[in-house]
This record gives sequence, structure tokens and C-alpha cells, in this order.
Amino acid sequence: MRKIVTIDGPSGVGKGTVAQALARRHGWAYLDSGAVYRLAALFLKRQNLSLAATATQVAALQEMAVDFVMTETVVRVFLNGVAIDDVLRREETGALASQLAVKPEIRAALLDFQRNFAGDAPLIADGRDMGTVVFPEAPLKIFLDATAEIRAERRYKQLIEKGEDVTLAALKKEIAARDARDRNRLVAPLKPASDAVLIDTTDLSVQAVLEKIDALWQAHF
Ligand code: C5P
Repeated sequence: MRKIVTIDGPSGVGKGTVAQALARRHGWAYLDSGAVYRLAALFLKRQNLSLAATATQVAALQEMAVDFVMTETVVRVFLNGVAIDDVLRREETGALASQLAVKPEIRAALLDFQRNFAGDAPLIADGRDMGTVVFPEAPLKIFLDATAEIRAERRYKQLIEKGEDVTLAALKKEIAARDARDRNRLVAPLKPASDAVLIDTTDLSVQAVLEKIDALWQAHF
């Protein structure tokens, strides 16, 4: 069975930071599935297509060529050969992605890409439905959670460091809206797999979360 660790959870909970640290430490591949939805939204927008889920949009997504390159510090993302990191990480792109992500046809169109990512190499995959839908057979599933308040504060710090012009109040609203959309959608809603280990990170540092995961890792691999 393929070695896979899934890390699911809501926006701003720190999935990416934790997943990347684990992938680097263990030399595993890393799938940022949120980036896949962000890329899909940007790709459609750039082709002047709406975020509808018609056959046109689904067919267009098959033309999307995505590359992730993990360096010592960041994951660089390329869409059809062009680096797209800056616009990809903007809050407005996350909001577009979450509108697209409610559509079952779009989710189905992106499924094979995620499942085939990195062949059969050991994989850390983060997102909303990694443990429930995309990799239900993963031997270790983790669900990270934290209050909406603390997630908005963390995201605020990240975006300000990148020089984005955001306010904490606007981010809190955006996170609440995304939470509602991600948790309440009919297909692949955000929820822990029945066999996922829940970690509440509200009062934990990244280091403390990694230590908890290390203990689980030892028991599984
Ligand atoms: O994690 P990130 O903020 O990059 O994800 C952007 C949006 O993509 C999420 O708000 C969610 O709606 C959607 N998404 C999803 N399923 C995933 C990963 C992300 O629906 N596995």
C-alpha cells in the first residue's frame, strides 16, 4: 500500500506549514490540493470562462498543466509553465477556489490529477477531503482544527509579511464565509475521516503540532 499521510482542516489552520515541514524532513512528495483548486479557478478566469461547471469548463481543466517545485523554503507553483505563486496565494484567489470547489463536476475533474500526483512515491497531501474522498485508504490521517479567531490572526500575519493589503476584520469575515461554504457543501464537505486523528492547534506552536505528529508517525511507518 502507498505510504500517504493526509492532513485536512479549515482555512488558515496551518496545514501547509506542517505538511511542508514533514515532506522536507522525510523526503516525501507534497500535494497542496488547495493550490489545485486555486489553479483551476485562475485557469478558468484567464480563459475568460465563468466558474460554472459545464462541459466547457470541465474540458478546459484537462488542458491545465501544473507543476509544483519544492525548495528548501517554499513550494513554487507553475501553471502551464509560468510561475504563478503570488496571485495564487492571494485571499481573493482562495475565495474563488472555494466557490469553484462546491461543484461536483469540477471536483471529479480534478480527482485523477490528485490521486496520480507523484506516481507511487510516499506522499503528504493536505486539503479538505484528502482523508475522506481522495485518499480514503491512507494509513495515517490527521485533522487539524483551531478557532476561527486564531486562524484569521495567523493568516493575517502571513499575508502582511508577504506585503498584502488586508485587514484583520475583512479576513475574519472571509474565513467565516469560506468555513461555511467548505463545511456545508453537499460533495466532499470539510470533515474529519472517521479514522482521522484530531489535533486542536489553537494553543499549539507549529513545533508542538509536529511533535504530536512525530509520535503518530513512529507508530505508523
Ligand atoms: O487550502 P486553500 O485555502 O488553498 O484552499 C482553497 C479552497 O479550495 C478552500 O477554501 C476549499 O474550498 C477548496 N479546497 C477543497 N478541497 C481541497 C482543498 C481545497 O475544496 N481538498
